[in-house]
Amino acid sequence: MIKPTKTLSIVTAGALSMLMSVQVLAHGDVTPQSIDTTELMQLGDEWLEENPYREDYEKHDVAVAIGSSAYTQNCARCHGLEAISGGIAPDLRYLEDGIDGDEWYSYRVQNGAVRDGRVYMPKMSEHLSQEALWAIRAWLETVSVAE
Ligand code: HEC
Repeated sequence: MIKPTKTLSIVTAGALSMLMSVQVLAHGDVTPQSIDTTELMQLGDEWLEENPYREDYEKHDVAVAIGSSAYTQNCARCHGLEAISGGIAPDLRYLEDGIDGDEWYSYRVQNGAVRDGRVYMPKMSEHLSQEALWAIRAWLETVSVAE
């Protein structure tokens, strides 16, 4: 039988390692992946209000393909493979379509989600270009289940 003191230290160790993984998250635990977006219309530094790569964009398909892979590399570990959330972070298939969804999307990818000094979602625009992030949004709309 484990003595109470030992149990306590196991519990403490567990709590500590949980704290440490929160620390790691807090530092933005992001491995920047270089996403090649040179095939797409280049957008500059100023953030657009609306996704420029939506259906009527001539290279929409290219944007979707780039977005799919960029999503898998940079977002899936929190938001789930194929955008199907395992519960850690919101299911992005429910993000509103069109410009209203774009607004919320671009706010979140630029600002991340930080509360009480904890980083729940890093500022993805510090790791990915505007082109890569709109390409991801273009892909997300192809798997959307939003009304
Ligand atoms: C470290 C984990 C993590 C990573 C990586 C991450 N996110 Fe998030 N994301 C979250 C969490 C957690 C939330 C919920 C934030 C909150 O509770 O306010 C969120 C929220 C969002 C939202 C708002 C969703 C809603 O329904 O309100 C969008 C949009 C979003 N993320 C897009 C992305 C995209 C695109 C990427 C990749 C480029 C990404 N996220 C990478 C954790 C992450």
